[in-house]
Amino acid sequence: TLNNSTNIFWQECPVRKVERQKLLNQKGCVVWITGLSGSGKSTLACSLSRELHSKGKLSYILDGDNLRHGLNKDLGFKAEDRAENIRRVGEVAKLFSDAGLICIASLISPYRKDRDACRAMLPDASFIEVFMNMPLELCESRDAKGLYKLARAGKIKGFTGIDDPYERPLNCEIEIEQKDGVCPKPAALAGQVVSYLEEKGFLQ
Ligand code: PPS
Repeated sequence: TLNNSTNIFWQECPVRKVERQKLLNQKGCVVWITGLSGSGKSTLACSLSRELHSKGKLSYILDGDNLRHGLNKDLGFKAEDRAENIRRVGEVAKLFSDAGLICIASLISPYRKDRDACRAMLPDASFIEVFMNMPLELCESRDAKGLYKLARAGKIKGFTGIDDPYERPLNCEIEIEQKDGVCPKPAALAGQVVSYLEEKGFLQ
């Protein structure tokens, strides 16, 4: 990838990650929630953050839609822009994780290679990919923001799932699906992720 920085050096910090983690009594990691618009990414992110908070664990949400109001306001939705969006958020998530936080990233992140590049940035097993595997028909029927309607009418071009691709994860840690045509409740989903984090020792 492009790197225009030359003559640069790495400055070590005197306080190490293990010390920060000890202070917080948790291990830094990234919970990366991917899926179509309207698949429930943000709802899960909020529910998970609330649940972790109630357990005394520090988390922080990086929401794609929100970050596009600031850090990523210069980016659109073509493949290169989405790649840069994911790369930046991956870098920020890496910093939060290094700080010792449970970073919850919630972005469509439709391209496998962009998500895998984020995974590759993080230390072993600390990138937890959660796939909101919800049918397009369900996401479209919810259409909370009215964007699917606009996309169908051709008023938004390159909308994920309509006329832009979504590449399903091949090796995610957690897959969320409907059970008997019913979506699990956000609290139940958050519980599922919390159990995973507990099992893997991130909550200690
Ligand atoms: S990406 O693909 O990861 O870069 O997208 P992300 O940063 O998560 O932003 C997705 C939100 O942007 C709105 N939006 C669109 N989504 C998909 N395709 C197109 N063309 C588009 N244009 C605007 C939409 O509100 C997405 O929000 P969510 O929360 O996913 O519904």
